[in-house]
Amino acid sequence: MKTEILRILRNSESYVSGQQLCNMLGVSRTAIWKVINQLKLEGYEIEAVSNKGYHFIDSTDILSASEIMSRVETDLIGKEVRFYEEVDSTNEIAKKIADENGTDGTLIVTESQIKGKGRRGKEWSSDKGKDIFMSLILKPRINPMSASMLTIITALAVVKSIKKKCSEEVYIKWPNDIVIKGKKVCGILTEMSTEIDYINHVVIGIGINVNRDSFEGDISQMATSLYIETKEIHRRSQLIAQIMKEFEEMYHIFLEKESLEPFIEEYNRMLININKEIKVIEAGNEYYGVALGINDKGELLVHDLDKPDNIKTILAGEVSVRGIYGYV
Ligand code: BTN
Repeated sequence: MKTEILRILRNSESYVSGQQLCNMLGVSRTAIWKVINQLKLEGYEIEAVSNKGYHFIDSTDILSASEIMSRVETDLIGKEVRFYEEVDSTNEIAKKIADENGTDGTLIVTESQIKGKGRRGKEWSSDKGKDIFMSLILKPRINPMSASMLTIITALAVVKSIKKKCSEEVYIKWPNDIVIKGKKVCGILTEMSTEIDYINHVVIGIGINVNRDSFEGDISQMATSLYIETKEIHRRSQLIAQIMKEFEEMYHIFLEKESLEPFIEEYNRMLININKEIKVIEAGNEYYGVALGINDKGELLVHDLDKPDNIKTILAGEVSVRGIYGYV
């Protein structure tokens, strides 16, 4: 009911009376009054004027399951949200929930991670209450070999959503880092549980630096946040809802074809490495090449500069690609 009341109040330009809420939700005035008080305690600004009703002042960056669900406009993705004040890692919670019959599209969100995980065993730091740490549970009926393509779609969903909030140029660094002015603003960590030919679940962990205003030490050279770039506080629930929407649209198309073909052009347009000289670092091997973009499997095509006739295909997650000038 909290979710519904939030949705109704937010979407209404004028006052909504207690009676109107009772009629819409089929509950008593006391029940409405209790929820309004709870919302106020959670930090929402709700003006109550006698003979008029309630008016919502949508100014705060609050994160909760109801807040997110009241903004999400999807059929499946992020329809169910589980919110935690603090966890070790949302990916770990998501994996547990997925094992215990958690449904396709469930989103796990927290204010703070104690053991946030990055790719390749790195840590993902947490600034409590400022950033987005979330993991999406998916149970797609696709070949396990195709699962890494979901990370590419996620990167596209995030970059499209961030672009709506930030006038700076936002790019993807293959396969799935999101960068603004050469610094990382979002990282994605996909984990999967499979049988040989069957996916039990995929968990897509997304960390976005949203409202933090600084980074300590060496990280400050590599990372940025939306706040640092725009000098504005961003409503995280709105950004999450937008990402869910963008993802869902592409997810349905992807499931039909099990191919990234419909997204190649858009992805390549957002790719910071495109047509640039890059350094490919593989286990025991390093070489320079020019990134040509992704193919329909999400692999990066690289023109090997040492062997001009040679176009190499780099699999997602197998190598690091780094521009030769600094991080990007
Ligand atoms: C990267 O190294 O670029 C990936 C970072 C992924 C971080 C997110 S935050 C939410 C989810 N939970 C985790 O422990 N990691 C991912």
